[in-house]
Amino acid sequence: MTRGLFISFEGIDGAGKSTHIERVAHLFQQTGRAVVLSREPGGTPLSEKLRELVLHEPMDPLTEALLMFAARREHLVQVIEPALARGDVVLCDRFTDATFAYQGGGRGFDWQVLAQLERMVQAQPDGTLRQPELTLWFDLDPHIAAQRLASARVPDKFESQPADFFAAVRAGYARRQNEMPHRFARIDAAQAMDAVGADVDRVVADWLKRNTP
Ligand code: TYD
Repeated sequence: MTRGLFISFEGIDGAGKSTHIERVAHLFQQTGRAVVLSREPGGTPLSEKLRELVLHEPMDPLTEALLMFAARREHLVQVIEPALARGDVVLCDRFTDATFAYQGGGRGFDWQVLAQLERMVQAQPDGTLRQPELTLWFDLDPHIAAQRLASARVPDKFESQPADFFAAVRAGYARRQNEMPHRFARIDAAQAMDAVGADVDRVVADWLKRNTP
């Protein structure tokens, strides 16, 4: 049977990752793979309810981190693990790196506590941690991201944060990449959309070449 694949997409708000998730979905569908597209926080009815709360209600930083991981646990158990067991390709718009970047980097919440929650929530029966095998990090200067967002929709709790918050989120992503370089691919999201798309295609193709027996 074909092995399941878990790929996540990350970056500060305004980095433009969402367009490219569709692109990667097409890439895999063209090769006949079943693709599950999902997002965090969210991805199950309960997790989407938690998303509404966490993106719009002010709350204590630990409460915020716990709700992110509670939503993630449901998403893993109900959607991600079954899809991977079927051999599907799971493409997730944000995963745990976003918690380290936003709650850890942006909010300054304790990195080690997040690591404990990660171990608790993502533990597999064999003791290993469930992680995306490949993470595309769309990296962009927060000032450019803010300009791109200014013309977009009504901002949520995170999108309305100032540029220095996003500088700290960006630093959080960089720290995560340093800790787990084997699964991170940094994409320069300041380029024109077509060039970013070409980089995405190349990263995914290279990764598949290295990881397909
Ligand atoms: P986002 O994924 O950007 O969705 P949309 O494009 O629909 O706005 O929004 C999710 C927001 O939640 C984003 O600002 C990042 C934040 N977030 C966290 O703070 N921690 C997390 O663990 C996750 C998954 C998201």
